[in-house]
Amino acid sequence: MNVQQTNGLTIVPLAVSGFGATIIGLAPDNITTAQKKIVREAYERHHGLLCFEFENLLLADDLHTLTGIFGDNEFAPGLINGIGKKAIDGEENITIDDQVAALRNKGRDPYLAFIGNVDPNTLKVKPTDQKFYGEWEWHTDMSYIQVPPTFSLLHARIVPPTGGNTGFCSQVMAAASLPDDLRSEISTLNIKHDSTYTSSGSLRPGMSVPASPIEAPGHVHPVLRATPCGPALFLGRRTNAYVVGLPLDESEDLLNRLWSHATQKRFQYHHNWRVGQVVAWDNRMMLHMRHPVDETAARFMWRTQTKGEAVQAVTA
Ligand SMILES: [Fe+2]
Repeated sequence: MNVQQTNGLTIVPLAVSGFGATIIGLAPDNITTAQKKIVREAYERHHGLLCFEFENLLLADDLHTLTGIFGDNEFAPGLINGIGKKAIDGEENITIDDQVAALRNKGRDPYLAFIGNVDPNTLKVKPTDQKFYGEWEWHTDMSYIQVPPTFSLLHARIVPPTGGNTGFCSQVMAAASLPDDLRSEISTLNIKHDSTYTSSGSLRPGMSVPASPIEAPGHVHPVLRATPCGPALFLGRRTNAYVVGLPLDESEDLLNRLWSHATQKRFQYHHNWRVGQVVAWDNRMMLHMRHPVDETAARFMWRTQTKGEAVQAVTA
């Protein structure tokens, strides 16, 4: 294992996968310019997945500083996806600027999303009888919009005793090992990424179940996208996906073959959380999912993201 020690940081490749590394030694309120450069280099060397060890919970501003190493800080998903519930109940057609101002007036941070099953104010578990969560499926966050956020970061604040691990699946590794016939079959194809359902698996407000994936709303992206670490499969989510231009049965068959290849165990890493950790991942390069958890046990994370970039197709 090639451990790197530099500028007060120790960078340890994840032992159980071909991608990702742990970074130890960063002081969240005092990250030096040299350390930021090292973190950026580490993310490319380790193909877009970094786990930061911190002794204590982070302040929101410190998480925003850490997020800013990876790109321009982006508002939380509810503000930018333009789909479904607005930040202020009952108000339609409100601009993002107005939403941000309204949130700030309420003392809320527009860059921060709360993940988990607790009330963010009381940290008490919110009872649920929900049986399925879209987070359990492999997916890429917000791939149904034109310019999906590039990096997502999660900061663990309350971790349940068991379950709730986050899986990552390298789509750079998946693309590199595509069989030649499958690679040439998809080289010029695009997938429509469905926006019907939320990550919790429920219909977005105003959406209805599409008659077929052909009719499902969502943005179209190339199947193979260019990334700083090479070509990556960009599949989004299996539900209601559609390969543009193909008859539905051929689209379903091709997607089944692609997903079967893309989600092999050899491309996966499953992260077992500890309180205080931050995991940052590049949505261009990997799928992720969350393992089920006992919904009576508290789980609470902060989530941030960076602004995206136009999805670039791989050129031959
Ligand atoms: Fe997600």
